[in-house]
Amino acid sequence: MSDKGGFPHYMLKEIFEQPQGLRDTIEPRVSLDEAVVRLDEIRISADELRALRRINIVASGTSRHAGIAGQYMIQELANVAVDVDYASEFEYRNPLIGPGEITIVITQSGETADTSAAQREAKAKGSRTIAVSNVVDSTIAREADGVLYTHAGPEISIASTKAFTAQMAVLFLFGLYLGQVRGKLTRERRRQYIRELLDLPEKLTKTLESAPECKLLADEFYKVEDFLFLGRAVHYPVAMDGALKLKEVSYIHAEGYPTGESKHGPIAMLDDKLPVVIIATCDRDDPGSVLRYEKTVANIKGFKLQSARVIAIATEGDEQMPKLADHTIFIPEESELLSPILEIVPLQLFAYYMTVRKGLDVDRPRNLVKSVSVE
Ligand code: AGP
Repeated sequence: MSDKGGFPHYMLKEIFEQPQGLRDTIEPRVSLDEAVVRLDEIRISADELRALRRINIVASGTSRHAGIAGQYMIQELANVAVDVDYASEFEYRNPLIGPGEITIVITQSGETADTSAAQREAKAKGSRTIAVSNVVDSTIAREADGVLYTHAGPEISIASTKAFTAQMAVLFLFGLYLGQVRGKLTRERRRQYIRELLDLPEKLTKTLESAPECKLLADEFYKVEDFLFLGRAVHYPVAMDGALKLKEVSYIHAEGYPTGESKHGPIAMLDDKLPVVIIATCDRDDPGSVLRYEKTVANIKGFKLQSARVIAIATEGDEQMPKLADHTIFIPEESELLSPILEIVPLQLFAYYMTVRKGLDVDRPRNLVKSVSVE
């Protein structure tokens, strides 16, 4: 128990360390007074960033999910096209990349073989590379032009939790920095985002209060054999990661899907034996978010007609959701682009408690290692 800080498992300890990981990752890089982000570590000149044509993101597993969230963030904040690839697939699609582009390589460990091979492929094609890593001086960090470290602290549990939220925070910071350098964001807008970033750790602490509810959910659902996780827009990678977390630690089959795409096949399977976990949050100040929320509500009504049990992750103050969904877990209100950093927390807790309820080794699931050193 000693190095687990009083927690029964590393996974739970690391879930609870997320507020500190965010603080350490965000605070040294922003100034609220000046409304600026400082990322000198990327070692790529402002001129080069202004001339940037495209960004490629390559990563594996949970780090790739952070990359998809980063794609939505960077495109919105900096108005640059962003592509995301599985690191293990990168070389096979003959990526047409080259000078004038940046490849962001995301990896908690900094040692993943697939990700390292993709980084070398990008470099060989003339692209600059930036590593987002949680391990100082790791192989991938050393081989990159610049490094953006996540300061989540050592992650021991096989399931990546605190590295994921720190990766999304770093990608948001990068998008904000790029938007600043390229003159795409007003000072006021930047200040607003920086304020929201600085408030995130506190909101994540509040989100952790959902732990007892997630434990109760696990008591109800731990015998279920299949789950469908859904999310729309920037929330879709959260659904993907919620499903991955459940699979890897509890061995329960779960699929992560974009909510809209579920109509194109998966809903054929829906019935009372296939519960749906759906991200149904809403930034009420953002018309785009409200529209997405309304579409999600319509989707949930359809799932209920098919007798599916629905677990919704919703925004505090939403009075409609508890009437629609079988279970609603509330998270604090957050802007559209930053809310994935909170939404994943109940899904991490759900995977954790499901696994403990099944009596499995949550920190060391079978067949998995922390850093995958083979392609
Ligand atoms: C996450 O929970 C997994 N254990 C796994 O998908 C992991 O994210 C992946 O292997 C990538 O690892 P990396 O971030 O160290 O490169």
